[in-house]
Amino acid sequence: MEAEVLEAAASPEAGAALSPRQLFESSGVKSVLTQLDAELVGLAPVKGRIRDIAALLLVDKLRAQQGLNSQPPSLHMCFTGNPGTGKTTVALRMAEVLKQLGYVRKGHLVAVTRDDLVGQFIGHTAPKTREVLKKAMGGVLFIDEAYYLYRPENERDYGQEAIEILLQVMENQREDIVVILAGYKDRMQTFFGSNPGMASRIAHHIDFPDYDEAELLRIAQLMLQKLHYRLDDEAEEAFARYIALRRLQPHFANARSIRNALDRIRLRHATRLFDSDTPLQPDDLVTLEAADVLASRVFSTSATADT
Ligand SMILES: Nc1ncnc2c1ncn2[C@@H]1O[C@H](COP(=O)(O)OP(=O)(O)O)[C@@H](O)[C@H]1O
Ligand SMILES: [Mg+2]
Repeated sequence: MEAEVLEAAASPEAGAALSPRQLFESSGVKSVLTQLDAELVGLAPVKGRIRDIAALLLVDKLRAQQGLNSQPPSLHMCFTGNPGTGKTTVALRMAEVLKQLGYVRKGHLVAVTRDDLVGQFIGHTAPKTREVLKKAMGGVLFIDEAYYLYRPENERDYGQEAIEILLQVMENQREDIVVILAGYKDRMQTFFGSNPGMASRIAHHIDFPDYDEAELLRIAQLMLQKLHYRLDDEAEEAFARYIALRRLQPHFANARSIRNALDRIRLRHATRLFDSDTPLQPDDLVTLEAADVLASRVFSTSATADT
């Protein structure tokens, strides 16, 4: 009698013997979350929410194994925040988590905007939207600036047609596709206000805050480290000043502006080395200097461009 119970517990079908922590580690979810943590500076609230969702899904899986509540959870999400706050990057990681836990088959991410879904002429929108959905099946459909799908100022805007098809698929095929809507918070709220059908299908809302100056500097260092560059002490000080100025200028896009600024600094660094007559030391190839930073137009008072 007792032996029988033990045998049953040891049989392969009784995988439920794993503790949540063991499942967390063996499923690969832990490694995706660790990578997310290492790859992204700051964003503590966002990382916490992703972890919560992962925990919910994991426990849900364990419950399903025990025959408890087998209804698939609603996983459609909304990521709000300014440009360059990490929404696309986190969506990619979310897709991996969903794949590791078996909530989507493939775990790829298809990123689109209105123009990929909505046609210019009558009859073009439905095939376009369905084509995108077909590509995204088994993974995540990421719709950037999703509120552009709804244009109430045009009496019969084709965006409405795309929204209706999306709603159907979000409801009926939710075991095989997860939709993430992304964009500015205020516009997304207005969009949900006029599209209650969409609002009611979004289970998770995650807000991405702007980065502060210290976080932007750490992001720069992380990006440079990956590229095998470094700022020397004076360059770092110059770049901290760059960040403080750039943040207040138009079209500032958080981490994306940092990435762009570093591209231009590397360009100036290369030009400086190229123009130099002294023999190169290996360290010269790696070290960015203050001059490479200070040549930016951001330091001239009239600057408004993203340079
Ligand atoms: N917290 C962060 N730490 C490091 N890099 C970041 C961070 N947030 C964003 N990035 C980088 O900045 C760039 C823009 O991020 P992205 O995810 O495209 O932002 P969004 O989709 O919100 O516009 C990407 O190269 C990304 O890797
Ligand atoms: Mg993006």
